[in-house]
Amino acid sequence: MKHSEKSTWGQLHRKSQHAIDPIYLNRWSPRSFAEKPVEPEKLYRIFEAARWAPSGSNEQPWRYILARSPEDRATFLEFIMSGNTAWCDKAPVLALLLSHKLSSRNEPLRSHSFDAGTSWGYLALECVRQGLVTHAMGGFYPDKARELLKIPDEYEIEVVIAIGYQGEKEALSEAFQEREMPNSRRKLDETIFEGRFGDPFS
Ligand SMILES: Cc1cc2nc3c(=O)[nH]c(=O)nc-3n(C[C@H](O)[C@H](O)[C@H](O)COP(=O)(O)O)c2cc1C
Repeated sequence: MKHSEKSTWGQLHRKSQHAIDPIYLNRWSPRSFAEKPVEPEKLYRIFEAARWAPSGSNEQPWRYILARSPEDRATFLEFIMSGNTAWCDKAPVLALLLSHKLSSRNEPLRSHSFDAGTSWGYLALECVRQGLVTHAMGGFYPDKARELLKIPDEYEIEVVIAIGYQGEKEALSEAFQEREMPNSRRKLDETIFEGRFGDPFS
């Protein structure tokens, strides 16, 4: 499959209920990564997009630790669960997303995880624009990550993100090949309420 076909897979397999920019459908989380490095310029662009996310009081609590070298990636694979290392070991870039739990006044920052999630969303969408794919992972051992990467206690460890170029489906194990397809979403009327919880929006 050619790269251009892969990049529109979301639109082939997903239908939106209302007209939206195709970028939202084309972002999905494949598991097959091509063994091809990501150009530093593209990395700068995707983290530039992540940088411009909104945050409570503009505190920008997100921090990313990247692993690109074989040594750094091997360290990351030590704290990622085996169900994920089975496919993410091919990803040329692994990123650990952290969020600072304290504000610049050293007070608890209620929105630290929410803001970090917004930043990841921006990054994931910019990856689509750059012809890259992303796959977030909660399946890892945060305590081990904290110890190995020397992460201070005031940072929450949010998620690991695999970043790279999409690989061939056939490179995956059979079990993963069956799941290598964009999924769908709950209907909009089960998600948006009006006035009070549970009352439909129409
Ligand atoms: C916080 C978070 C944790 C996730 N953890 C894992 C994981 O450990 N392993 C995995 O294969 N996918 C993981 N995913 C990917 C989700 O399963 C995926 O985003 C979801 O099914 C929607 O599919 P899509 O991203 O292809 O649209 C995670 C995603 C998020 C946002």
